[in-house]
Amino acid sequence: MSVNINWNNLGFDYMNLPYRYRATWKNGAWEAGQLTQDNQITMSEGSPILHYGQGAFEGLKAYRTQSGAIQLFRPDQNAKRMQQSAEKLLMPAVPTEMFLDAVQQVVAANNEYVPPYGTGATLYVRPLLIGIGDNIGVNPAPEYLFTVFAMPVGPYFKGGMVPTRFVVADTFDRAAHYGTGQAKVGGNYAASLQAGKFAHENGFGDAIYLDPLAHRYIEEVGSANFFAITKDGTQLQTPKSPSILPSITKYSILALAKERFNLTPVETQIDIHDLDTFSEAGACGTAAVITPIQSITFEGHEHVFGDGTTGPLTQRLYNELTGIQFGDVTAPTGWVVPV
Ligand code: PLP
Ligand code: COI
Repeated sequence: MSVNINWNNLGFDYMNLPYRYRATWKNGAWEAGQLTQDNQITMSEGSPILHYGQGAFEGLKAYRTQSGAIQLFRPDQNAKRMQQSAEKLLMPAVPTEMFLDAVQQVVAANNEYVPPYGTGATLYVRPLLIGIGDNIGVNPAPEYLFTVFAMPVGPYFKGGMVPTRFVVADTFDRAAHYGTGQAKVGGNYAASLQAGKFAHENGFGDAIYLDPLAHRYIEEVGSANFFAITKDGTQLQTPKSPSILPSITKYSILALAKERFNLTPVETQIDIHDLDTFSEAGACGTAAVITPIQSITFEGHEHVFGDGTTGPLTQRLYNELTGIQFGDVTAPTGWVVPV
């Protein structure tokens, strides 16, 4: 490798890599996309993304395997979710083939920046779809830009696979019941900044949200989904809610729990008062991977899971998931895609 990066010391930070993909939607159709070296975007000051948040993004990773090859994890699922987010905000869909081709092109063009196997680091790929063009009323944009850029990253939460403390943000909502919580759109994250700041300033990894109707059931973490293992060791539960992101990592873990660990996967309402019924809990997502939850603080009380160390099932799920992603463990059909 010719690039000079300390792969073992990466955080989750922006890096301006040589290539990104850009395509424009105009007059009802996508124009041919291409790679560019320019990381700046110029647009009309009236662009709906700037005023009214008409935009959606995705996050997926490219992994270097032991043989030096590069692979993606379930990129078709990201394509599908971006189409669902686009529909929610009245944006044109990026066809799956175009999405996958853009991701492939960006990873291949920046291939020196895909971290070496064994460092735990990965290339984080960020597709972004935004409404642009002259506009001032609350309307869908006249034009759209689809871009895909990437950067090498390390762990999202400090230390990576280490037990992390979370706090319930019970005076904040991330998304409304019938709002945009299911879509990966910027407004959900703007709405999470205050609670995230509170969590970080008080020594927590991030905030956990409760449902916006009853303020009683766990929704998700500001940057990841939530799962927990019942004390009898039979069920892996995750919250069921119309206002959380349908996490690709979560659905992968639910499938692995059932098919490889003989656990019953259950999507259900998880009452914040019932944390005692679980022996282990975790945050899961592309950036978060699987982060063990050491404790959840709610109304001034810190509930510690087990003895506060990484639970055995959380560890096994982590090993299985990352084993598949880095090519050391056989993947279910279609889950890994070579670059
Ligand atoms: N929930 C939120 C709010 C997220 O930002 C993410 C990250 O993408 C997730 C959940 C996890 O989703 P995925 O596993 O598809 O990355
Ligand atoms: C991801 O995991 O891809 C995310 O989008 C989380 C993020 C907020 C960094």
